[in-house]
Amino acid sequence: MKTFLETVLAQADYQPVRLLTILREVQAQYRHIPAEAITLLAEALHIPRTQIISVVEFYSFLHLTPQGSYDILISDSITDRMLDKENLLSYLSSVLKVKVGEVRGDGLVSLNNTSCTGMCDQGPAGLVNGLALTRLDRPKIDEIAALIDQQKPLGEWPAHLFEVSDNIHKAGLLLNLPTDKGAAIKAAYNRGIAATLDEIDRSGLRGRGGAGFKTAMKWRFCADEKSDVHYVVCNADEGEPGTFKDRVLLNSYADQVFEGMTLAAAIIGAKQGFLYLRGEYQHLYSKLQAILQQRRSEGLLGNNILELGLDFDIEICLGAGAYICGEESALIESLEGKPGIPRNRPPYPVTSGYLNKPTVVNNVETFLAAGKIAVHGGAWFSGFGTEKSAGSKILSICGDCAEPGIYEYPFGISIRQILHDCGAEDVLGVQIGGPSGTFISNREFDRQLAFEDLATGGSFIVFNNSRNIFEITQNFIHFFAHESCGFCTPCRVGTSLLKKQLDKIVDGHGSAGDVVELESLCQLVKNNSHCGLGQTAANPILSTLQRYPDLYERQLKDISYEPGFDLDGALEVARRMAHRDDAAAHLSQVED
Ligand SMILES: Cc1cc2nc3c(=O)[nH]c(=O)nc-3n(C[C@H](O)[C@H](O)[C@H](O)COP(=O)(O)O)c2cc1C
Ligand code: SF4
Repeated sequence: MKTFLETVLAQADYQPVRLLTILREVQAQYRHIPAEAITLLAEALHIPRTQIISVVEFYSFLHLTPQGSYDILISDSITDRMLDKENLLSYLSSVLKVKVGEVRGDGLVSLNNTSCTGMCDQGPAGLVNGLALTRLDRPKIDEIAALIDQQKPLGEWPAHLFEVSDNIHKAGLLLNLPTDKGAAIKAAYNRGIAATLDEIDRSGLRGRGGAGFKTAMKWRFCADEKSDVHYVVCNADEGEPGTFKDRVLLNSYADQVFEGMTLAAAIIGAKQGFLYLRGEYQHLYSKLQAILQQRRSEGLLGNNILELGLDFDIEICLGAGAYICGEESALIESLEGKPGIPRNRPPYPVTSGYLNKPTVVNNVETFLAAGKIAVHGGAWFSGFGTEKSAGSKILSICGDCAEPGIYEYPFGISIRQILHDCGAEDVLGVQIGGPSGTFISNREFDRQLAFEDLATGGSFIVFNNSRNIFEITQNFIHFFAHESCGFCTPCRVGTSLLKKQLDKIVDGHGSAGDVVELESLCQLVKNNSHCGLGQTAANPILSTLQRYPDLYERQLKDISYEPGFDLDGALEVARRMAHRDDAAAHLSQVED
């Protein structure tokens, strides 16, 4: 073990900030993080053991106890469920002879659920030792079970099991316009760096990760920050269920994304950039490393880029299964090798980000768009879209439609048009922006996709009339309860109470008082949580309650209140101990 760790540590330059990368290597080698490794790493990195343990416990892909040699995780997104995921999971469990959430007795295989793996256009999906499995069905599961029985190394598994398609159905402004390598950097230097920032300002580009902050303003704040060091970070965490467009951008447009990052570096004065890639996209890692290497060899990264005096390079950091790491300050914590707990803001990353230095964090699509704007100009970009939402939006469309995949539209497009294009019929509603976004009903399809109406980081999930609103809402609420990082009480306790309260109502044990209680709990979680996860976690309930109050009402019992648990049943032990089983010792009798 010592020799292995020394190699891994040397690759990481013995830097504690690379702890997550180091732990991922250890996990891959030993299928867990052994206690001995924790001790050796603590000594080598000069950090406490407890710090390492807290990181292992935070990330769902790291474990203190051994997982199977083949560790299978099945995506539990609502779209996977709509594709019969639950039955497939039971089947997988029976053919592999392992229970969900357990490791088989011989240690060969483990099986569990995981949050959305970003393959909603080709589910049901999963991961085996971190590698994406797509379009799972019974024949594929039989094949996987046989390969595991034969203990075939993953490298020898048939390629079709790991096939990931781009599924681009509608390319627009960004996806249709090829740009030569280096064109954005050359254009920026020809025009002048300050003038290029003005051009991005004129374009009206707003962040594509969801919040829609003006990109030029963010870059200007960061550039103006007095510091010897600045950083550029590309947020490719893409954990919002139903979103997968960054996966496609990195698979087929990575060069242009890296070019956008290089442009940002020139503008803010950064020498180092990071691509924070969600662990679920491990299948892209080698390809992206090769593209970076190619760019270095072509003088597009490294020292003196294109002989323009610009020094900049990009490192890839793989996440380890934590949705919260998409929140920019949690992402920075994770980049620093820590648990991804969101920081207090302000200070914002532009002032104090990675290693407390000014840092620009942008979504993958934002960098892609910025590079194109450097080449084609701000007026070209702002000529598309609406007044407050310039340009286009790349959508990940999935759920009940004939052609799930990637669609790019100018902002301002109606939901009705999008549904028509993707072949959605008999639609009940659409979840826009993932679980943290909004559910709109079929009475709202003339609304527009735009920051001024319906904003989305890219997730667009279609539900037809055969779907159950409660099943959808429950899946989303369970997701938040599972992904809450636990740092602040309103979210940690609140999301778990939301889950219990909603389950109680859906299971038919709710009363009118429970709905009132549910609503006030929603407001409490929304208004008191520390970060965006908690602040949006109640959205699935709030948006369905507002649109379908009668549905909730029909689910209620005809009493004003029923306790959340069986108190009389819980008193059974006390009754036995006290040798009392008379009528007065029963709660119902007391109430009478
Ligand atoms: C819980 C949570 C998850 C997020 N996940 C992502 C994500 O996966 N990708 C992303 O770009 N932004 C995500 N964001 C938004 C980021 O915090 C940040 O606003 C964004 O990366 C900024 O880039 P932009 O200005 O280009 O949109 C998330 C925010 C929250 C609160
Ligand atoms: S709101 Fe939730 S995710 Fe955000 S810091 Fe609090 S517990 Fe963590």
